[in-house]
Amino acid sequence: MISVDISNVWGAISLPELLMTEQEVFAAHMALTDRSGEGSDYLGWLDLPTSRATWEIQRIQAAAKTIRETSDVFIVVGIGGSYLGPRAAIELLQGPNRNLGKGKGDPMILYMGNSLSTRQWNETQALLEGKDFSLCVISKSGTTTEPAIAFRSLKWLLERKYGTDAAKKRIWAITDKTRGALRQMAALEGWESFQIPSDVGGRFSVLSPVGLLPMAVAGIDIMEVLSGALEGKENTNLRSFENPVWLYAGVRNALYRKGKSVEVLESFEPGFAMMGRWWQQLFGESEGKDGKGLFPVPAELTADLHSLGQFIQDGPGILFETMLRFEPPQDGLTIGQDPRNLDGLNYLAGKELSFVEDMACLGTVQAHTDGGVPVLTIECGQLNERMLGELFWFFELSCGISAYMLGVNPFNQPGVEAYKRNMFRLLGKPGCD
Ligand code: PA5
Repeated sequence: MISVDISNVWGAISLPELLMTEQEVFAAHMALTDRSGEGSDYLGWLDLPTSRATWEIQRIQAAAKTIRETSDVFIVVGIGGSYLGPRAAIELLQGPNRNLGKGKGDPMILYMGNSLSTRQWNETQALLEGKDFSLCVISKSGTTTEPAIAFRSLKWLLERKYGTDAAKKRIWAITDKTRGALRQMAALEGWESFQIPSDVGGRFSVLSPVGLLPMAVAGIDIMEVLSGALEGKENTNLRSFENPVWLYAGVRNALYRKGKSVEVLESFEPGFAMMGRWWQQLFGESEGKDGKGLFPVPAELTADLHSLGQFIQDGPGILFETMLRFEPPQDGLTIGQDPRNLDGLNYLAGKELSFVEDMACLGTVQAHTDGGVPVLTIECGQLNERMLGELFWFFELSCGISAYMLGVNPFNQPGVEAYKRNMFRLLGKPGCD
């Protein structure tokens, strides 16, 4: 079970300051669960750990089996909340290099529609040469420019390779139940499709088919992920600071009020990088509005200690850190003895690599807290499917509560529209003068 250690925040906030947030955490949690807060028509994610029907799970698993058997490459087309969750899940569980050596039976997974890069398109097109591939296109609105262009172009590649009819069997659409261009296209073209519930917004959709289909294609046990999320939901129902979600939401808001407006989320796992990006979107797009919000920055340890460490330790004092810890795997690396010891590492001979990681963690926390940077630690336990589900739940609930505490609607994103309006006008989209 996820737990939150706040023993290294007391230099920046006091116990009374934390306790002062308790009523607000309570009110925010209540507003979510009794669905009385702003944006309450987007609270379908609260039910996702339990609301997937058995037949839907079976259909996802059957689609994943077909994709695995018939594809060397599976392409996930989507952007923002329609892309980050599945990639975060797959890379956290299987590592950033999971695609190496993959092919039919356990396909390589690529992500498209998350940029407007011609170079990325050219690389992908070259990589698909001579390979069997299929794709899922994920878009709640069905009209987002980046994935729509990528999908149109990939569909053309599929049709050229397999012919129009066979290509239809290699396309899966994940979109709103009734609304949008993609829903209409799926119906007209006869692609198999899955629904994103109308009351679930993109960044809260990872436990819907948006995340579940790509995870299943990667060979992840999605029932375990959902069970972990359900366990998380049950464990975070407590109405006190014994609830890890309350503690996280309460502390980060108390720190914000003391001028700590940047949260750095860190982990010692390289596979966590995309999870960091998922978390960044979740909190950034949910909280950053009406002139408020904590700026979320993911960082990778120990790599970023050699780049951001200086700023964190010695910069303007606007940061706090949230450090995620995972238990190391059973099989470890024991550092060897070298007779010449030219690198001077023999003092570590016989020690596990995970011991060095632990000491790096301890040393970092000590240094940063000495430098006035508060550090929260989230203990996650073993890195597996259940933990992943629990972690998704933990952050989503924390985000909903935390945003309500800030007094903003977590479920809209009015600021994202401004760039789109300008881009459409510049592109000459009909009706966008
Ligand atoms: O979280 C969100 O709502 C956004 O990041 C969307 O997921 C993103 O803009 C993609 O939108 P759509 O799924 O409609 O293509």
